[in-house]
Amino acid sequence: MISIKKMIAEAIVARVLEIKNDAELDALTVSAMLEYPPDAKMGDLALPCFKLSKILRSSPVKIAETVAEGFSVPCVAKAEAVNGYFNIFLDGEYLASKVIAEAREKGAKYGAPDLGEGKTVVLDYSSPNVAKPFHIGHLGTTVIGHSLKMLHEFAGYKCVGINYLGDWGTQFGKLITAYRKWGNKEEVEQRGIDALVELYVRVNNAISGNEEQGIPADPALADEARAEFHKMEEGDEENIALWKWFVEISLAEYQKTYAQLGIEFDSYKGESFYTDKMPAEVQKLRDKGLLKIDDGASIVDLEEYGMPPCLILKRDGSTLYPTRDIAAAVYRKNTYNFDKAIYVTSAGQSLHFAQWFKVVELMGYDWADKLVHVPYGTVSINGAKLATRTGNVILLRDLFATAIEKVAGIMDEKNPNLANKEKIAEQIGVGAVVFYYLSNNRIRDINFVMEDALSFDGNTGPYVQYTYARTCSVLEKGGEYDRSAALCVTTPEETELAKTLLRFEENVVDAIDTYEPSVITRYILDVAGAFNRFYHNCSILGAENEQIKNTRLALTEAAKTVLGNAFGLICLTKTEKV
Ligand code: ARG
Repeated sequence: MISIKKMIAEAIVARVLEIKNDAELDALTVSAMLEYPPDAKMGDLALPCFKLSKILRSSPVKIAETVAEGFSVPCVAKAEAVNGYFNIFLDGEYLASKVIAEAREKGAKYGAPDLGEGKTVVLDYSSPNVAKPFHIGHLGTTVIGHSLKMLHEFAGYKCVGINYLGDWGTQFGKLITAYRKWGNKEEVEQRGIDALVELYVRVNNAISGNEEQGIPADPALADEARAEFHKMEEGDEENIALWKWFVEISLAEYQKTYAQLGIEFDSYKGESFYTDKMPAEVQKLRDKGLLKIDDGASIVDLEEYGMPPCLILKRDGSTLYPTRDIAAAVYRKNTYNFDKAIYVTSAGQSLHFAQWFKVVELMGYDWADKLVHVPYGTVSINGAKLATRTGNVILLRDLFATAIEKVAGIMDEKNPNLANKEKIAEQIGVGAVVFYYLSNNRIRDINFVMEDALSFDGNTGPYVQYTYARTCSVLEKGGEYDRSAALCVTTPEETELAKTLLRFEENVVDAIDTYEPSVITRYILDVAGAFNRFYHNCSILGAENEQIKNTRLALTEAAKTVLGNAFGLICLTKTEKV
């Protein structure tokens, strides 16, 4: 639709110049003024002429009438002035032939805007804390992060996906202590991350005590844990070996979930990687006179910017979360020379990012404005909030497993003879969770209701994957058809479908501009809706003549291309058969 809008805008500008040859107006400005009317009676596109009143010093009604007079562009079937609006009705055949030709020619690249040529984006997402459970709170950063990566890649950016593992810190001292006290090798080898999480929960309980369970607090254990971490920092071989092993075990678990989602990272450099890169940045802060000592700790005062101070060093000289983020950003700038660095985390970390972004700016790094924080809201399940501290969490793995199991049950009833049933149930189950999650504006808090996510009739993942499979089966049944024959569009549903398919690119642009994958899920629902209305109202294989049948098959093929490309942007698998 971008190029159609441009064509129309140029024609409007030409009309305006005929009447007022010194008007300062360009096609880009007019194109941005074009709107999609809420009601089809008002056309497919409309120009609200009051937007031109000032420039042309004329009334909207007058402008609309003048532009409409003798207006003629090949893609426009009819155009009329109504109450200060210039309403445009597009030509169905033109739209259909355009989308069919472009989707055919560009294939997997259809809908891709040309935004990122020669530019690099680094994306920091998922980034779980090792040996702590990978729970549904991580769903957001993982799938929003990956969608943003896919969107940028689609638009031609070079992308670097970074999993900034939380792989350093006092929690490892605790884990080492717990392992030596209660753990054993075979069990950890066998049960993997579950055994580690158990040890971690147990040691935390022992350190802080648990009134309910009658366990008294044990501060000596906390000291022990701190000492073990200190040994790690000093490079103690045994502790480092244990730490590496814990990281490996945790990663192996995360990889299973990433594989289900089709996610791969380009870098797993976690927090530990930056330990030796922080001193230089701390020195720089000191040299610039930005560090202030406050109660023994080193901070950067941000009062002037309406924020609490950013903590750089604790009283004992140890570094903090912001210190590491600053060092990591500098390293990434030097390594990848990014044009944009995106961080996806829960909104709970918004202040942290605002603070250290400001510090980077104050340090004089001229790329500070290229840092982008993308926050998202909380997730609850059937109304219940997550409680991480008590170990009462829902693991992502289990959430996926439940969804897959339920889908398998539904499929057993619907289509018991389907080949490759297990794989398909996995794709649809995982897809259902992802689609449901990404259907909301990312900043909104979500209440996850499994039944809603899995419904085959609602606005869900299964519904859109089913629609994709429907395009595949129509095309398979249709077989070869004449792709060079002239098109014949006879129904409003065909025009509507073509029009919807042509809006893919501008939705991709919008999703990238706003860092909002939900733009794509909503668009996919629009396409699925338009395709299903077309499918139900227009007989494809039994069309009244060959020309109409060819047109409908070609439209189906274009719909398949668009759905498939859009699925790829939001971690959804293309399911050929359901
Ligand atoms: N590991 C952190 C957590 O689980 C998220 C890291 C986000 N990325 C960053 N560069 N701070 O809360």
